[in-house]
Amino acid sequence: MHDPVPSPSPHVRITVDAGVMTVRLDRPDKKNALDGGMYGALAAALAHASADAAVRVVVLTGGPETFTSGNDLGEFVKVREQPGGGLAAGVLLRELAGFPKPLVAAVAGWAIGIGTTMLLHCDFVYAAPGARFKLPFVDLGLCPEAGSSLLLPLAVGPRRAAELLLLGDELDATAARDAGLISAVVVDPQAHAAQIAATLAARAPGALRATKALMRKASRAALDEVMAAEGEAFVAALSRGEAIEAVSAKMMKRPPDFRRFA
Ligand code: COA
Repeated sequence: MHDPVPSPSPHVRITVDAGVMTVRLDRPDKKNALDGGMYGALAAALAHASADAAVRVVVLTGGPETFTSGNDLGEFVKVREQPGGGLAAGVLLRELAGFPKPLVAAVAGWAIGIGTTMLLHCDFVYAAPGARFKLPFVDLGLCPEAGSSLLLPLAVGPRRAAELLLLGDELDATAARDAGLISAVVVDPQAHAAQIAATLAARAPGALRATKALMRKASRAALDEVMAAEGEAFVAALSRGEAIEAVSAKMMKRPPDFRRFA
């Protein structure tokens, strides 16, 4: 029996069953691009899961063809047009970075931008053989977020991180596993994530929380500092000509032209 939990966004589906909260992105016509409402719903789901003793584990997933195409490109334009406004993603990133219980991700299809960087905050990531991971921040005239400038080199090493962040290289599921970005490639990531989540839900919850907190303790202060710096740099970049050109080009499905920028 899966109890639906009210979600402030129609594109984020939340159920709780036997101690496992499953949070599913559901905006297939936009490839599960994340808008402000979805960030709010995801953050609220994690806050609820943190506080509710009946939730032992959270599974984060998307659709069968796309995990998420990342931040809604239209939201980048909105932030630029509202000086002083912050990124809607910030509210989710704060919850993700401090989430105290086990977090399991099941990925099929594309995981782009924050679709990949949010996985760095998950304890287990299972991906379908056709999953693809890409961090096109520089392609968009932007910079990394979600603490990925710290967490990605830690996860995959500085050489691979440079290929992913500076060149925008794409990783398929096998390469992502070999690089250490994900836990395993499995035929049915949602079923596998559900099985791991059930195992975790039956384990001693206090010991799980203490172990997760200890594993993250050494990098926590650095992560907060890096996320604050990334947030400032990202919002500043959104108003620069390079990002205006790159984001417009992406939205208009044409190649960007950076020749006029020094
Ligand atoms: N923000 C807003 N809309 C998006 C989107 C995003 N991040 N990703 C996809 N969409 C929309 C497309 O504009 C399109 O809308 P339309 O039908 O109204 O034209 C629809 O979703 C389908 O996307 P499309 O590009 O036609 O699908 P595809 O299968 O050819 O390609 C992707 C899929 C994910 C590779 C491609 O959509 C893409 O590159 N998206 C942008 C990713 C990105 O740069 N994200 C920001 C990271 S910081």
